[in-house]
Amino acid sequence: MAKKRILVCITGASGTIYGVRLIRALKGLGHEVCLVVSKWGAKTLELEMELTPKELAKEVDYVFDNDDLSAGPASGSYHLDAMAIAPCSMKTLAGVAHGYAETLVVRTADCSLKEKRPLVLLVRETPLNLIHIRNMAQVVEAGATVIPASPAFWHKPKTIEDLVDSLIDRILTHLHAKEKTEIEWSSESSH
Ligand SMILES: Cc1cc2nc3c(=O)[nH]c(=O)nc-3n(C[C@H](O)[C@H](O)[C@H](O)COP(=O)(O)O)c2cc1C
Repeated sequence: MAKKRILVCITGASGTIYGVRLIRALKGLGHEVCLVVSKWGAKTLELEMELTPKELAKEVDYVFDNDDLSAGPASGSYHLDAMAIAPCSMKTLAGVAHGYAETLVVRTADCSLKEKRPLVLLVRETPLNLIHIRNMAQVVEAGATVIPASPAFWHKPKTIEDLVDSLIDRILTHLHAKEKTEIEWSSESSH
């Protein structure tokens, strides 16, 4: 597969491990990775992964500030092949659902939708209220893919990383970063 340029955004929801492992998987596949971490994404990343955005920045090709609406990705003309917000907070989901492009993450998601580029939102909250559910419906209607942070167990994961990677596998396919999913159901999986 040709090398792609993919934006990964980490916002302030639990599950920052998804963003980190997504970045590592994309780099492992030879893609170019751009990164934006929101203020609360940074806090959650530090709490959950003991990793600072600065340290994570060393693993990617380009880093942008979430407050910089003059950064390249804020324009639909900037070359991006796909975008994932992983994890995606309910606040950022609301911004995307309503076109309230106050941050670089939301503005770039807005551009992804208007330019018809793959956009994956790995949303995380529980329980969900009606506003969250309606916002998910709205972004799906606009063309995004919503992947809730709810991994399957039928492939019998042995570690947290196994569990997380089963969803990363699905995200990569939806971003068109790889041809097909590796963790595939077959009747043998159930034995
Ligand atoms: C440790 C921590 C965990 C959080 N987890 C969630 C979560 O799972 N889902 C969510 O929607 N918000 C969560 N929040 C709240 C968001 O961080 C908050 O709404 C913030 O304004 C989101 O901003 P952002 O989307 O720009 O990152 C969490 C906050 C903290 C500090």
